[in-house]
Amino acid sequence: MSESSERALQGPARLPDYLSSTYTWAYLNPRTMPWLDRAPVVSAILWGNAGRLMRWAVSRFEPGQNVLQAACVYGDFSNMLARRVGGEGRLVVADVAPIQIANARRKLAGLPQAELRVADLVEPIREQFDAVCCFFLLHEVPENARRRIVANLLSAVKPGGRAVFVDYHRPRRWHPLAPVMAQVFRWLEPYAPSLLDVPIESLADEASHFDWRKETRFGGLYQLVEANRRN
Ligand SMILES: C[S@@+](CC[C@H](N)C(=O)[O-])C[C@H]1O[C@@H](n2cnc3c(N)ncnc32)[C@H](O)[C@@H]1O
Repeated sequence: MSESSERALQGPARLPDYLSSTYTWAYLNPRTMPWLDRAPVVSAILWGNAGRLMRWAVSRFEPGQNVLQAACVYGDFSNMLARRVGGEGRLVVADVAPIQIANARRKLAGLPQAELRVADLVEPIREQFDAVCCFFLLHEVPENARRRIVANLLSAVKPGGRAVFVDYHRPRRWHPLAPVMAQVFRWLEPYAPSLLDVPIESLADEASHFDWRKETRFGGLYQLVEANRRN
């Protein structure tokens, strides 16, 4: 990585207010983090779908690619992605929280293709990648930050490259977990409802340069979105 590109993905001065006010318990507290960062916990939070969703996302990338992962993810996801791009590839994991980057660095030790960066993805990225991956970040940020993150991630994709988003989506009306998820969002994920019905491709003008494909899983509760930038 060149010096200028390192600067482009280097440390924000402070944490975003939405993160410290809403998610300290989940991402910034050194006492809770080791409990949450366990595969069974991640699996339970995603109703047993974590492995399937992670495998789908990882399968959208190729060995040898230079990939940006937008924000750290609990469990083995970054490890899976780093192994997927392999020794000939490169995985840059960028997160605004230094404690999350330190934790991910520990998990990715022994995988030299993985690089960790403290960076606020609301700010322009100024480096281009073969592909970017955004796994369950968008529902955790307010709408204005979400738009800027999507625009920045799309701008960071090279011509012919790909952006992959996996996140919550409005479950179908009959979904037995719909009322439970509505409560979870009310208590713990206040920004999630504003994502559920809004196509990710509608969030940024940059989206018009991409071909979009969306699937949903688990009764519509999760969306898997792939956007391929035209050459
Ligand atoms: C990817 S999301 C949640 C993923 C999923 N719930 C999990 O961990 O399994 C959580 C991460 O997003 C990071 N984050 C939130 N806003 C960000 C921003 N503007 N720029 C970079 N990282 C951000 C947080 O610091 C946190 O580590």
